[in-house]
Amino acid sequence: MTRKPLIAGNWKMNLNHLEAIAHVQRLAFSLKDADFDAVEVAVFPPFTDIRSVQTLIDADKLKIRYGGQDCAETDSGAYTGQISAAFLTKLGCSFVILGHSERRLLNNESSADVALKLKSAIKHKLLPIVCVGESLDIRKSGNHVAVTVAQLKESLAGITKYDMGNVIVAYEPVWAIGTGEVAIPEDAEEMCGAIRNFLADEYGDAVADKVRILYGGSVKSGTAPGLMAMPNVDGALVGGASIDPDEFVAICRYRLALV
Ligand code: PGA
Repeated sequence: MTRKPLIAGNWKMNLNHLEAIAHVQRLAFSLKDADFDAVEVAVFPPFTDIRSVQTLIDADKLKIRYGGQDCAETDSGAYTGQISAAFLTKLGCSFVILGHSERRLLNNESSADVALKLKSAIKHKLLPIVCVGESLDIRKSGNHVAVTVAQLKESLAGITKYDMGNVIVAYEPVWAIGTGEVAIPEDAEEMCGAIRNFLADEYGDAVADKVRILYGGSVKSGTAPGLMAMPNVDGALVGGASIDPDEFVAICRYRLALV
């Protein structure tokens, strides 16, 4: 099974809807068919940008895909400030990021919350990117693999084998996010390999073979080729570097540095 690599740009709370249009236009101008043949490219703008991004992508028939940075557990109701998976699907989103460490930390999201959001995302046919990763303390203690796999298990609670085939996992060590501290390729491979073994045990080899496992945490054009050369790393979830169109395009083209 060949897993098509996914390069996902998580803009976080950056770029308003006008800046988003200019940014996607620059990506569209730079990325060529050969790039889209090699990798899937997706952007994750703030909610307020998504309609503008959709309009541009539809009008120009761009191959860039997009998604939300989070979704609610429920479809609709009295949940001030929340956005449902149903709304994202209606806006043409293909993906949704769930359980990002910033949401776990700043919004007190638990893995149980992530599992509920995941069910809603699947119900509305979004491809979820479930984020997991250890803190610096855990890494120093040497328990990083066990803790991260346990976090993933809890975040996936109640998901069927059938649905798991469409889930994407992102390993994002918290100590490497926005810090400039990038895990070395061997660290990423150790964890992504352990995650794939866990998926094989829980859901069978066919599912484990199909699921894409991304690495995230200070990925830059200089570090992407080494990370992407690892057998169990199937893509990158890029934060800071995704705001710079030239840098993001260079990451999407990591393959050119591998030849
Ligand atoms: P970073 O963010 O690339 O800025 O470290 C990654 C992420 O949070 O997804």
